[in-house]
Amino acid sequence: MQNHPLTSKVREDFPILKREINGYPLAFLDNAATTQKPQCVIDALVRFYENYNCNVSRGVYTLAEEATGIYEEGRKTVAKFIGAESCGNIIFTRGTTESINLVASAWSQPNLKAGDRIIVTEMEHHSNLVPWQLAAQSSGVELIFCPITPEGRLDLEVLEELLTDSVKLLAVTAVSNVLGTANPIAKIVEKVHERDVPVLVDAAQAVARMPIDVSEWDCDFLAFSGHKVYGPTGIGVLYAKNERLDEMRPYQGGGGMIRQVGQQSSTWADVPQKFEAGTPPVAEVFGLMSALEYISNVGMLEIKKHEQDLMTHTLEKLQEFTDLELYGPADSTDRSGVLSFNLREVHPHDVAQVLDENGIAVRAGHHCTQILHERLGIAASVRMSFGLYNEVPEIDRLFSALEQVRKFFILP
Ligand code: ALA
Repeated sequence: MQNHPLTSKVREDFPILKREINGYPLAFLDNAATTQKPQCVIDALVRFYENYNCNVSRGVYTLAEEATGIYEEGRKTVAKFIGAESCGNIIFTRGTTESINLVASAWSQPNLKAGDRIIVTEMEHHSNLVPWQLAAQSSGVELIFCPITPEGRLDLEVLEELLTDSVKLLAVTAVSNVLGTANPIAKIVEKVHERDVPVLVDAAQAVARMPIDVSEWDCDFLAFSGHKVYGPTGIGVLYAKNERLDEMRPYQGGGGMIRQVGQQSSTWADVPQKFEAGTPPVAEVFGLMSALEYISNVGMLEIKKHEQDLMTHTLEKLQEFTDLELYGPADSTDRSGVLSFNLREVHPHDVAQVLDENGIAVRAGHHCTQILHERLGIAASVRMSFGLYNEVPEIDRLFSALEQVRKFFILP
């Protein structure tokens, strides 16, 4: 297969890709954990601190107003990027995990009572599971699990059966960070809304891999992290519909989220500031804006197509390894750029170590999905995950290194 033209165009933009690891060019195939940063994002952070650094929504001097302008401009950029109706629906957080914890606290507490149920799925990352466990334990709510099929897709028939009157929320990932399965979110939301049940979508893996339009998905909440979409760490997004925002009480107390403070109680700022206590991550918002502009210029459809091409190539190569166990769908049509596997008889950490010796970065372990790994009957797996800068020769290098793994660890 030829390199998709996208790769040669964008690789130059990512300085870290010039690095060598153990004498080999870095092949970064752990993009589900975090993505590398283009020069424009790195420059944006420097530019912010050199020119605009200031706290926001507090000062009346020029610098403060400029920084506040940048921060609010960031909300508009995010709203546009995910098709949100208004920037009032965008809350800045530290990342996907905090976004989901925010909903699990600020929405669940006033809206759920003992006997209610929350549906999660067997393929959720711990960040879309443990916050619901904490919320459930404090209010007597029960968590129930939508199972996966043997091919690693959500079992939508069972999901429908689980939707009884006591269900008050579905929390589901758009793309599995292990199986790579891209779930049919619009279809799921439509079904679940027929029962008047709100849906939270964990878009941590989806956001850098496909165009996202919350008005098309019609989800009630959507969470993602900046660092997985080529932006800085320490910045995340929670999108919430207006009616859900109205149902939420404050998450954290502090400066910036109040209207009037009395000795015993206070009143709250309007949304979204009501949910943004303390000094927000202004420089990170500036960096995130730059990242979203960068990938929008590349084109989300082009990125999706590029990663799908890489996946098709990888799935073909896999056929040559009869001792390789693949997890998740075996065709690339409803798969996004994440693929996990095990080489029979070799521990995933040993595989990852040999790959690292060849300059190839992959993740080995349970990938924060212990329930899923238990369901698959394994303790750990090796995961490769693509970004817009990956190319076919890197994948071919990985498969050559797997041959070495076989020589080291598998007796003839
Ligand atoms: N959520 C990230 C991953 O799956 C850290 O690797």
